[in-house]
Parts: sequence; structure tokens; C-alpha cells
Amino acid sequence: MSSLHHRHLAVSPDWLALYYRHPLEITHGEGRHVWDADGNRYLDFFGGILTTMTAHALPEVTKAVTEQAGRIIHSSTLYLNRPMVELAERVVSLSGIPDARVFFTTSGTEANDTALLLATAYRRSNQILAMRNSYHGRSFSAVSITGNHAWSPTALSPLQTLYVHGGVRGRGPYAHLSDEEFIAACVADLEDLLGHTRDAAALIAEPIQGVGGFTSPPDGLYAAFREVLDRHGILWISDEVQTGWGRTGEHFWGWQAHAEKGPPDIVTFAKGIGNGMSIGGVIARADVMNCLDANSISTFGGSPVTMAAGLANLSYLLEHDLQGNARRVGGLLIERLRAIAAGSESVREVRGRGLMIGVELVKPGTDEANPEAASAVLEAAREGGLLIGKGGGHNTSVLRIAPPLSLSIAEAEEGAAILADALRAAG
Ligand SMILES: Cc1ncc(COP(=O)(O)O)c(C=O)c1O
Repeated sequence: MSSLHHRHLAVSPDWLALYYRHPLEITHGEGRHVWDADGNRYLDFFGGILTTMTAHALPEVTKAVTEQAGRIIHSSTLYLNRPMVELAERVVSLSGIPDARVFFTTSGTEANDTALLLATAYRRSNQILAMRNSYHGRSFSAVSITGNHAWSPTALSPLQTLYVHGGVRGRGPYAHLSDEEFIAACVADLEDLLGHTRDAAALIAEPIQGVGGFTSPPDGLYAAFREVLDRHGILWISDEVQTGWGRTGEHFWGWQAHAEKGPPDIVTFAKGIGNGMSIGGVIARADVMNCLDANSISTFGGSPVTMAAGLANLSYLLEHDLQGNARRVGGLLIERLRAIAAGSESVREVRGRGLMIGVELVKPGTDEANPEAASAVLEAAREGGLLIGKGGGHNTSVLRIAPPLSLSIAEAEEGAAILADALRAAG
């Protein structure tokens, strides 16, 4: 065990999991690569949990951070803040929500907490509809709307949460149905649930479940849900912490795969927008955002340095059409991975969109989740010089592949080849 690992264990909570038998200390990065403390170089297909969105050490972001830090690092939300207003203007215009307002936080968890605060205050109800297998963060309220029990350590809750079908297409009681029948069954389930409850505040959903293993419903499910929710006055919160900013290639926001009935009432975001700087936020229709009748501030939310980073990062993303790159290079990568999986008894499914790709592993020839294989592939990929993630339901058996959106075709080919070897090596 390295001395840093030893020191880490001595001072950290037991539940703070580390990847790998011999955990990595990442010391620096550039583009789509990172280096460890021993000088080994890795192709990074996980971006610190989908957070290095454009590239490591992107000069434009580094320059913006350095220049802003040299002027002022902190002032708080009590004072006018030019970078914050500028980023808010950009986010509002990209949001697709009419007359939208933005509140910046420091994490996705806090963004979802804020969304819950808004929805419960607006609707005067503490009842929340969430999806089975969901993940929305680590706070007391966020874990109480998390349908993935491996990430929800307490049953105590300030909310009354009801879990809805639909976030997982390929497993569960409706898996055998066609897309159309699947949507109809999930809508019927929602209608039935609402018949047994009163006045839910909101439905919160990740368009593609992240921690849950990059699972998603057929396109259109949330539009169909929206019709039901509208009849009851229930708000729709789209958690775009992983799916926002073009990662899914075809859309800028994940909810746009379900857009027939218009945008959600509330969108939450975090991770990629800051390229590693601590930015989260909530976007909502003005009447929803403004429903609070008490003060609320954030000391760190919208801090000038993080906002300057977000602006530079977003400009780079848009000017270089990284959404288009995610669609093109992600399409190629998923094709390669499907070709590799076609020869494997251990891969149940390769799924995803853009640069958000999941590879579900099973015990050979069965449908049974294989978390040991997922861990073994993670180790073997690292040996080969590739970092990936894992996730998925109660058994962590899905490889998660989510590189920075500037990934080149050559890097996609290289990563796919390493992964093919890793899958073979892990049996
Ligand atoms: C969909 C989703 N929502 C919320 C969060 C929580 O974000 P954070 O870790 O920044 O608090 C995460 C984190 O992985 C996430 O994947």
C-alpha cells in the first residue's frame, strides 16, 4: 500500500470508496490524458465522473481562472458579480425554458436540493416522484429521492418519495415490451400511483441515469409523463448533472429526447460546466424560482473564479461544436464497442448516446450481473493505459465510458482497442 493510500485511510470515512486495488494518485492532465504520481500516462475516458467536459488543462479555462483569481476570488452573492450575470445570461438563453432564472450552487447535490426546495414550496407538498435506480446526490434530501439503494444510506427523510417505473429499459417487469408498450405501461403505472396519492410536488428524473449505469427509457417517455403531470399540476425536474451541455451528442440537454410537450419546469446542472471548477445550478421558470417567501443566499455559489471558468469552458464548447463531436466520435466509439461485444458472452448490452456509453457485464451466458468482472475490466484497462468508470443498479456491473467531449477519432480507436484487450484479459 502506498504511503498516501495509508494516510488517506487513516483520516477518511470508510464509505469514501476509491477505485482500484492500488488507488491512483492523478497528478496532472492535458487534453484527454492524465498522469499518475509514478509518471504513467492514461487515456481518460471518465473525466473525474463526467466533469472534465472539454479537456484537461484547457488553456482557455486556465487563463480565465488565473486572470480572475488575480483580480478577485470571492465577493459573495451580496454584491453584483459580472462573470455570474454573464454566465447566467448564457445559461438562460441555452435552457429552452421561457422567462428562466438561474441560481448557482457549488454542486449537483445542492442544485437538486434547491430544486426540491422550490418544488415543495411552490406546490406546498413534500411528496416527490422519483425514478427507480436514480441517483441525485449525497445530501439528506438528495439521498431520499435516490432510488439506487447502494447510494442511499438512510431511510429517514424530509420528503415522501414514490418511485416510478421507466428509467431502466432493459431490466424489470416491462423489459420484454416494445418501446411503445413500455411507455404505455410506465404511464399507466404513473397514473395508478397518482390515484393513490395526493398533490405530489414534482417528478425528478435523469434523462439518462448516470450512477445507475447509463440506462434510459425510450425517447418520449418523459413527454408522455408530462401530459399526466400537467393534469395534476405536478412539476417536472430534469436532473441534467450528467446529461447536460451536449454530452449525449444528439441534444444539448437530455430532456430534449422527450421534448414534444415542451421543456421541464426546472433543470438542474453541475459537473461539466465548470470543467472541474465547483459549479452547480438550478434553472426554473420565473414563477417557480420566485415562489420562496424568505431570503436564500449562497456564500460560494456563483463565485467569480468558478463563473469565469464556466464562461471560458462554455464558449470553447460552443465555438468548437463539441456536441457535434460527441455525436460523431461517440457514434464511432459505440460502434466499435458493439463490434467488440458481439464476440463476448460476458457483455449483455452496449448502450448510450454521444459520449455517454455503458457496457453491461454479466456472468457468461446468463443475465446475472457481474460486478467482479466490472472491477477486473477496470483494473485491466488501467494496466493498458485507460481510465474508465463503473456503475449500475444494486450490482455495479456496468462499465461507464464518458471521455471529455473533445475526444479525437484516433483516441476513440485507441481506447476501444485497450478496452477490447481488457475485456479479454478479464475473461
Ligand atoms: C445525476 C446526478 N445528479 C446529482 C449528482 C450530485 O452531484 P454532486 O456530486 O456534484 O453533488 C450526481 C453526481 O454524480 C449525478 O450524477
